[in-house]
This record gives sequence, structure tokens and C-alpha cells, in this order.
Amino acid sequence: MRRVALPLLIISFFLGSQSVPTQAHEGPDPLSHWYVQSRYIKDKVLESRLGPNGQVIHTPRFVPDSSGDSLIFEGRNAQTILAKNKQEALPFLPKRAMTISAWFSIDTPQDWGGILGFLQDNGDHEKGWTLGYDQSNFYFALATTGVDDGDGFMTYFKSKTKYEVGKLYHVVAVFDGKTTELYVNGIHDFSSDAQHGDILYPDEAIYTLGAYQDTNEFYPHHGRIREVKVYDHAAKAEWVAQEFAHHRMLASEEANPQEPFFELLVAPYLQYATKTSMTVMWDTSATATSVVHYGETDACSKSVERNPSRIHEVAIQDLKPNTQYFYRVESETPRGKRYESETATFRTAVDENTPYAFAVISDTQGNPDVSGQIANLAWQQRPSFVVHSGDLVSTGSDHNHWLSHFFPGMRPLINHVPFYPVLGNHEQNADHYYNYVSLPAPEYYYTFRYGNCQFFMLDTNQKVAPESEQYLWLDNALANSTAKWKFVCHHHPPYSSDENDYGKLWKTNQGTHGDLRARQLVPLYEKHGVDIVWNGHIHSYERTWRIRKGRAVEEGAPFYMITGGGGGGLETPAPTRPFFQNNVRRGHHYVMVHINGGTLELKSYTLNDRLFDHLKIKK
Ligand SMILES: [Fe+2]
Ligand SMILES: [Fe+2]
Repeated sequence: MRRVALPLLIISFFLGSQSVPTQAHEGPDPLSHWYVQSRYIKDKVLESRLGPNGQVIHTPRFVPDSSGDSLIFEGRNAQTILAKNKQEALPFLPKRAMTISAWFSIDTPQDWGGILGFLQDNGDHEKGWTLGYDQSNFYFALATTGVDDGDGFMTYFKSKTKYEVGKLYHVVAVFDGKTTELYVNGIHDFSSDAQHGDILYPDEAIYTLGAYQDTNEFYPHHGRIREVKVYDHAAKAEWVAQEFAHHRMLASEEANPQEPFFELLVAPYLQYATKTSMTVMWDTSATATSVVHYGETDACSKSVERNPSRIHEVAIQDLKPNTQYFYRVESETPRGKRYESETATFRTAVDENTPYAFAVISDTQGNPDVSGQIANLAWQQRPSFVVHSGDLVSTGSDHNHWLSHFFPGMRPLINHVPFYPVLGNHEQNADHYYNYVSLPAPEYYYTFRYGNCQFFMLDTNQKVAPESEQYLWLDNALANSTAKWKFVCHHHPPYSSDENDYGKLWKTNQGTHGDLRARQLVPLYEKHGVDIVWNGHIHSYERTWRIRKGRAVEEGAPFYMITGGGGGGLETPAPTRPFFQNNVRRGHHYVMVHINGGTLELKSYTLNDRLFDHLKIKK
């Protein structure tokens, strides 16, 4: 098609400035205008043409194109911060009408891709806007006063156009107070009246280029961003077409996807030991091969390989029981970037007659300093495995909490022994939890045997009342168990003297002394001879006497233990002693349990490795 000589056109380019028709290149100034190119980035500062300068967080690298270059966003920290808070951002945020015009490429599709945004989308709290993309299409998300349901309501307007990986696109989002429109490469893509009124902004957010970011989520962009403009006017179709035409050659360039930045996100760790198998997992930032080398000597002369992936999960089968093995892992991208781990050890599960020991840790949350010390102390005692009673992280949906808090904190323990977790409330039932564990279906509850014990792992964030799926399963599984020792683990404690969650006993006489939902499971524990129930949630230590039918007894009933001192901020017990309490302590701690046939010894240690509780049971 022949190009129209654009400068000759007389068009009113913005709906908001209709009174004086202007020429295409003479529209109103944008609120912000960034050339995201090497000429404008010095010392990790993106100098704006208009609007705020940006702080480039990742190490900048530039990809050339036919008329210059653009910044490639790559790696887990990729983003440029334009304003750290609302106060800084406000002068540059449109109030009602707006237009975002952006040139960018998408090199790795993702569910929540972000190019430019200032938003919160946490549960029902939905405010602000973002221009981004999902696995196949562009989107513009917007929340306005016209459809506010009390805490904001956001609509994700998805483009009809599907994008091609690695190609530069010109995408324009327009809102005039009534209608939202999207344009791709100068062509109108859709309109919708789903949002209307003023733009509804959150009280707190970060104005971000090159990431989808709110308080709970951070998804860095992988791809180029070349130029972005933001206006507080609504552009007309003619303006958009002309804006595209200025650089239309960019849209006809060949796709130039950059290989994803390759780095190790989570070092190798172990899951689900049996007498003859062990599962090794690790996470790389890009798809790569999944190879585990292993053997009874550190030559690791055997190998097992699975399909290339990002989260690697390799089960080693046909091992000897109660045997020490060495292993190391290896991943390589299609273009030859490699990761190879150090060699580590594991031991397959013991048989019924061999002594073993395990650690119990809980509520590690966002405190890798403390959880790191705890995991290290536990590792020095050489447990056979670790039980984790939930709240592994502070925010389950925040990938960085897993990458920066949980996994680094739990090393070196978890690359030598498997951990068996349950979901805490802080996991938020997030995909990251399920992606990072390898447990029997349905994973949110499961059982495992080790030596002469059997563990029953439950999710007390979900239904546990009589007739619920978990209750019925547990009743049946406990009834069928032939193990000498029966242990249960779930996050919420049936018995607790905690002041914060279950009482106000420093000020009143009101309190439930534990989680009443979780207490619905207690009859099953008493009926089926459960020995010990491990819980977390309360960031403190508490061990009960044996409890039967709401009374402390000396024989034939379970003990309940809260071991929530793995890192989370500490909590305080009630001021007086309830009937069930044996040992209560405010402080970070971990627990070791040693079993030899019918003898169980339990020892609890402070962060200074001082023994503060000891329990011996014979059966
Ligand atoms: Fe917690
Ligand atoms: Fe919790």
C-alpha cells in the first residue's frame, strides 16, 4: 500500500483537544517519554526526554536494530524503576484520559508480562493500570472509579492480535474516560466500555518499566523495550497510525529473540526419599537439560536424564536401601550455556529396624538469617530428613521470596536431606509451592513412610471438618497404617496458649487455646493412636502433655507440639499456664527426633544450640 503523505493531513489527534486541530507531529506533549536506548542510559540511569528518570536495576545490554538499539530486559531482576512510590509517581500519572504508546518485543511469553505499570492486583484489591502481555496476546489492564466495587475492580483487556516472539511491536492503549482501545502496529485491535470514570489508583505502588509488579508479585519482562510515551489525553486512531508510521520499519524487521538469561535460581535440593529412590530438584532461569549424575562414589558414574525444563525434577530409581550416594546435576541450554553443581550426598531411607532421626522446623518465612542458622544447626546433627510445618515463605505468590529467602536459608541442609512440607497460610496455596515440591498427589495432603514411622501431612488451610476429603482420607489412612510410630503434621495447632491468634489473655479471660478448625481432627488422632502432632503458625515453642478428650493424661494419647520458631517474628504465650502445657518458650528453635525401634527421644534447641526441652517415649 502506498503511504499517504502524512504531514499534509490535518487531524485532531487527541479527543481531549478537539477544539484546535493539529498536525500529527504537533500533538500535546506527553507526561513522560523514554527512549530506552543506549544513548539515554548512563550508569544504570535511564534519562527521560520528559517525565521521571528511571533506575535500571539489571545490568543493561543493548540489542541493535535497523535504526538504533534498545535495552533488553533479562534476568530475574530485570526492571527499571520510574518512581518508588505514589508521591513520586503522581505528577506523571494520567488522571482520566490516557494514552500509552510503546515499542517493545517479547522474547519469552509468560502469564503476567509487564511493560509499564502502576498497579495493585492482590485478590480483590485491584487498582491502577498496566500495559503487558500473557502467553500469546498483549493486554492493557485498567481500574476506574466507574466500576469500583469498594476495593477496586480491574479489567484485563486482551488484544485480538497474537504476538510473535522476538519481533518489535508498536502497541498503543487509549482510555478516554469511557472507552478503552488497543492498537497494534497502528491498527485498531479492540474497544470496550467495561471501564469508565477516573482512573482509580492504589495508595501504594511502584511505577515500573519492564516488569509486572505489585506488592505480591514481581514478574520481570524478557524482551526489548525501545520507546515508551505516556499522555494524559486519549489519542485518536489517525494519530496512532501516524505514530506507528514513524518507525514502521521496526515492525517489519525479522524476529530477533534473545536467549533467556541463564542462571541458577535454586540450587539442587532433595525431595521424597524412599528405600530405593530419591528425587533431585533445581531451578534454572531458562529451559535447559535435566541430568543427574550419581553413584556410590564421588565419581557419580551413573546418570539419569529427563526432558529439558526450567524447574528440574529428576527421580533416581533402583537404589539400595539405607545407602549413601553422591550426586551432582547438570543443565545446558540449547546454545550451550551450562550449569554444573558441586557434588553432594544423600542417603536412601532406612528399613524398619534401623535407627534414624529427623528435624522439625517451621515458619522460616522471610528471615533467611535465622532460618539459615537453624538449618545449619540441624544439618550438623545429621538428620535423615526434615519436616516443615508450613509458612516456608512470607508471601507464597512472590517468586523472589522462594529464591531469596526459603531456598538459600535452608541450605546446606536440603541438598543433603529431603524436606517434607505442609502448606501454611503464607504459602497462599500459590503455584510456586506446588512447582517446588515433589510429593504424592494431591500434594496438599499426603503420607510418607520412613523406617518404622508414618507421617500424615495435612493442609489445615483447606477443609478438615468431619466428612471433608482430608478428614475421610486421614481416618482411613490412619486405620490402615501398620507403622510403629504415627505422626501428623499440619500448620494450625489444635492446642496453643498463644496470645495473638487464639486469645487475649493478657487483658481478658477470652481465648480458644488453639485453632478450633484444626481441633476437629483431634478425635481421629485419639482414635487411631497418633503419637505426636507437629504444628506451626505460632512463632514460638510449645509442647503439651498427652491430651485425651480435652484433659491431660499420662498414657495412650497424642502429644502436640508447635515448632514455629524457624525465622518468623516471635510471638508471646498467654500469661498463665493452661492444663495442656508442658513446655513453652518464646524464641527461635529447632527440634530433633531420634527413633530406635520403640524408643523415641525428642530434643529441642535454641538458636545458640542450647537444649531446652527433652522428651523420651517408649512403646
Ligand atoms: Fe507463620
Ligand atoms: Fe501461619
